[in-house]
Amino acid sequence: MEKPLKEFDKKHILHPYALSNPTAPMHLVKSASGVYLELEDGTKIIDGMSSWWSVIHGYNVKELNDAAKEQLEKMSHVMFGGLTHESAINLAKTVIEITDESLEHIFFSDSGSVSVEVALKMAFQYWSSQGNKAKTKILSFSKGYHGDTFGAMSVCDPVTGMHSAFEGILHKNIFAEEPKCAFDSPWDEKYIEDFKSKLKESHQEIAAVILEPIVQGAGGMRIYSPHFLRRVRELCSEYDVLFILDEIATGFGRTGKLFAYEYANIAPDILTLGKALTGGYMSLAVTLTSKKVMQGIEANGNILMHGPTFMANPLACAVANASLELLLNSPWQTRVQTIQTQLEEELGKSLSLELVKEVRVLGAIGVIELHKSVDLAWMTPEFIKRGVWVRPFLNLVYIMPPFVITQEELTHLTSAIVDVLSMFEKKI
Ligand SMILES: Cc1ncc(COP(=O)(O)O)c(C=O)c1O
Repeated sequence: MEKPLKEFDKKHILHPYALSNPTAPMHLVKSASGVYLELEDGTKIIDGMSSWWSVIHGYNVKELNDAAKEQLEKMSHVMFGGLTHESAINLAKTVIEITDESLEHIFFSDSGSVSVEVALKMAFQYWSSQGNKAKTKILSFSKGYHGDTFGAMSVCDPVTGMHSAFEGILHKNIFAEEPKCAFDSPWDEKYIEDFKSKLKESHQEIAAVILEPIVQGAGGMRIYSPHFLRRVRELCSEYDVLFILDEIATGFGRTGKLFAYEYANIAPDILTLGKALTGGYMSLAVTLTSKKVMQGIEANGNILMHGPTFMANPLACAVANASLELLLNSPWQTRVQTIQTQLEEELGKSLSLELVKEVRVLGAIGVIELHKSVDLAWMTPEFIKRGVWVRPFLNLVYIMPPFVITQEELTHLTSAIVDVLSMFEKKI
């Protein structure tokens, strides 16, 4: 039964950043529960990736299942133009309550990338509605990642992002050097010089700055100083440029704070959230902004120009409500802190390998940076053989496990990683 399924998949289904007829084997997941994925042959593997940052409570969670079922009995979807519903209103209330008090308005969309598109539209419309047509660029950072749609791609790292594949098509933005001051390092104003000079030089054409707070994720898994974030906020205010924070990966406790911007005691003008918003059950994202920004957008009778079909999908909102309730009533801070301590100790063991350049840990995020690129085709079966799911890229082996992982399960995961890396070192 499974074989024809995988044959069909291989022949017809496109997977992320992959060839249409891939050579690497595809693994069929039959079911998932807790931190485990069950493969077609019954093998159970610990998901170290939380399905790309999102599955914070693990899989097949009773509270989330119940919320979905209950909502399904009422309505799974209804258009959001001219209509509203309780699940969206409740979710908006909670998200507005737990984010900075200046963020009063919320826009629902269907994925992280789209929430970034909405954030960019908000920024551009803010200025154009008020008659400023010169602000047509975004100042972004090297090593940033904000999604795969066109606007989002145009603010991703210009080298590791997809700019070369869309040369001449993508909107041309401005890029500052990535934050280079490590999380705990002493601050030096030199770290912000490049950003400052680009802002000073081009602020009249810059509508907004966009940045992932504290952790740059898919663009390089880099963890940087809250001081850097604070200085970016100050400079945006000084030069009258809007500040967009993309918390799609870092939001909902992953870094040890509910939102990573809290490390710097600042607030953005526009905030994007997604991924863990629904506990990883389904796709939902939001863009929040302040009264000031909304009033700017709506100056001279304008309106925000966006409205997806599945906006505020009730099923997704109901699950997000259940996920937030579960998170906020759980000892998530202790859990994330315990994971951090364990990751520091256990991933730290890999530093004895010559192959390993650096180990970086913050909250429930652990990163091993290698001197060499990984060999995904060789490593994947080695990880699976050891009962774990890890998906490295470039020279980065990283994990962000579900918060509910037990100490034993996490040790299993980290030991498998260190073991595979030591084999990899011998092999190369
Ligand atoms: C920081 C950040 N922004 C945006 C996105 C895009 O989100 P999505 O994949 O849901 O479109 C991602 C996804 O990895 C992300 O990590």
